[in-house]
Amino acid sequence: MNTPRTKRLLGKVVVVTGAARGQGAAEAEALAREGAHVIATDVTQAPHCRLLDVTDEAQWAQLAAELRETYGAVHGLVNNAGITWRARLGEVTPDDLARIHAVNVTGPLLAIQHLTPLMPPGSSIVNVGSTAALTGHYPVAYTTSKWALRGLSKAAATELGPRGIRVNTIHPGFIETEMTASAAPAFREANIRETPLGRTGTVDEVAPLVAFLLSDESSFITGADIPVDGGLTAHGGVKSLSVAMSATAAGPAPARSDAPRPTADHHS
Ligand code: NAI
Repeated sequence: MNTPRTKRLLGKVVVVTGAARGQGAAEAEALAREGAHVIATDVTQAPHCRLLDVTDEAQWAQLAAELRETYGAVHGLVNNAGITWRARLGEVTPDDLARIHAVNVTGPLLAIQHLTPLMPPGSSIVNVGSTAALTGHYPVAYTTSKWALRGLSKAAATELGPRGIRVNTIHPGFIETEMTASAAPAFREANIRETPLGRTGTVDEVAPLVAFLLSDESSFITGADIPVDGGLTAHGGVKSLSVAMSATAAGPAPARSDAPRPTADHHS
């Protein structure tokens, strides 16, 4: 029998960006199930979303004014909206960089600037990074934007900590959404090869982490980078070595302790 759990976000007002579909939609649903009053927003029209382009400062100011009027406080923010651009090093342009950074970095900055004045102690911000923020992932504009978002998260965690506001960054690996559906099949296959759990992830495997980070259960966690990636970033690029070596019948013979040592003829 399932015993009903206490709703961990009861009474909290939470803003989620990019909530029309994908991870944002799943997060908005999961947070509502935990009792939060969720303001789901997106630049794309959706029945459950308020229109909000994260790059538009006037829209953030308007939303903040309305939330102040209606609720008097905001307790959670999920900076989930993000876009990718798969141009490689030799072809990416300054315009590409600016466009991707506007959504992935400036958007979260504006959200933090406009909503934190409404946040009481105990509030929590979750920024959605990527394994691209932990690696040298090839799409330069996307990768640099997600590394920049990590920097913003660290600076915000430092500055907002004394006010009791926590800021953490989650780093999804390959999650099945429209964003990843737009990549070539080879990208998906290579991700599965690099992932110790040997598969891709789902939006419902990311949303519970966001709910935990917004709840009081994570009250001493701030400034953290938390991968949700099936182990993709855990091996630091050496998974193929492990696979290659497990395919060999036996490794090299262990060194014998009585083997003659090479003599050093100089000191460095
Ligand atoms: P998605 O493309 O399915 O959804 C992104 C949502 O953001 C869309 O609803 C879109 O309309 C919205 N959006 C785009 N520009 C916006 C703007 N200017 N203002 C407001 N909303 C805007 O993507 P997905 O996969 O759900 O991605 C969510 C987050 O997770 C993104 O930040 C993405 O970079 C990140 N991520 C995704 C991974 C994946 O494998 N799917 C892996 C790592 C990170």
